[in-house]
Amino acid sequence: MPTPEIDLVVYPDECDAFGHLNQASFLSLFERARWEMLRGGPGMDVFTRSGTWPALRKTVIDYRAAAFPGDVLRFQQVLTHVGRTSFTMRQTARRVRDDTLIASAEFVFVCIDRDGRPIPVPQEFSAYMNARWDTAGDDVQRITVNGVNLAVEVRGAGPAVLFIHGYPLDRTIWREQIRALDGFRRIAPDLRGMGQSDAPDLGYSMSIYAADLAALLDTLGVDEVVLCGLSMGGYIAFEFLRHWRSRVRGLVLMATRADADGADVRRGRDAAAATAKERGASAIADTMLPKLVAPATLGRRPDVAEGLRTLMSSTPVAGMVGALAAMRDREGSESLLSTLSNVPTLVVVGEADGLIPPDQARAMAKSIPGARLAVIPGAGHLPPVEQPEATTEQLREFLRSLD
Ligand code: MLT
Repeated sequence: MPTPEIDLVVYPDECDAFGHLNQASFLSLFERARWEMLRGGPGMDVFTRSGTWPALRKTVIDYRAAAFPGDVLRFQQVLTHVGRTSFTMRQTARRVRDDTLIASAEFVFVCIDRDGRPIPVPQEFSAYMNARWDTAGDDVQRITVNGVNLAVEVRGAGPAVLFIHGYPLDRTIWREQIRALDGFRRIAPDLRGMGQSDAPDLGYSMSIYAADLAALLDTLGVDEVVLCGLSMGGYIAFEFLRHWRSRVRGLVLMATRADADGADVRRGRDAAAATAKERGASAIADTMLPKLVAPATLGRRPDVAEGLRTLMSSTPVAGMVGALAAMRDREGSESLLSTLSNVPTLVVVGEADGLIPPDQARAMAKSIPGARLAVIPGAGHLPPVEQPEATTEQLREFLRSLD
């Protein structure tokens, strides 16, 4: 499957008096990238073959950095929405030499016939665009938000649920929930710095993670969402609530806490960051693994334990160090809890969680008006991985109760 990535060179005649690529030329480069992509796929006549023309109706461009003659720009195109007669394509242009994001743009098209009447989007076109080019998996898209390219799995239709993983993990901890929760639009990104998302050296904080998620939802056209955050994912959910509360339809706080780090924990974060830098991600994986899962999981499920070790060992060190600093510096969310009366909330904890004792989760649930608590038998800090069916059942019941 060819990837819808197209490299184009910036020529001097496309630049202004100061040598910058000018805006009109930028628009035509975006257009050229789209046609080149079709040329390498279903053919440039994919629209005219079915008597259709994609008429551009709206363009929003965010120019981020200047491009100059001789720069090679890599254009990536993702279909972010397909309706019956319209579709939205998001394109990004990055300079190949240093991977700088030069511009991102969103184009809304309506398919029309010769008389200008709207007609259905050709099936062959959406099939080509939706055929996933990412080797990571069938439903994985790559979407650039805030200058960082994120891998995000999107599956199903219905009310949206955003799954936010913990540290130092990735979206695959939700594999079973993503597979099983039919009737909902399941969205599971790799946070910046983890999984298959970009891992910049700098730029990590709870507010940046939350802003990435808000921008991701914008790109996917999702207004309202149920947030489901595990551990650090819960810290991010609290931050999201501080800024975008009106978008939160419901909340699942799994294996997480509301208080900020104390002095000892903060020192521990710095020590862990030093370890990651000196000895690499696998040193962190070795120390984290016994804390993350219940002793029974370690003993009886060597496959699960080894899978987690491999996952953590592949986490980029920059992402680990960034997440440790973000957790160290996060603000406490205790005062938020009593204000959540209009946000239906489920608190989930593993009965053998060594990091978040069930009593602590129980106390947090009591502080949230109307919240329910689910204790998952046989699970440690990672219920969705250690006890996937029981965790999915709790989520399903909660999500259905929101109708
Ligand atoms: C996590 O699972 O996300 C982390 O263990 C959270 C933390 O260290 O506070």
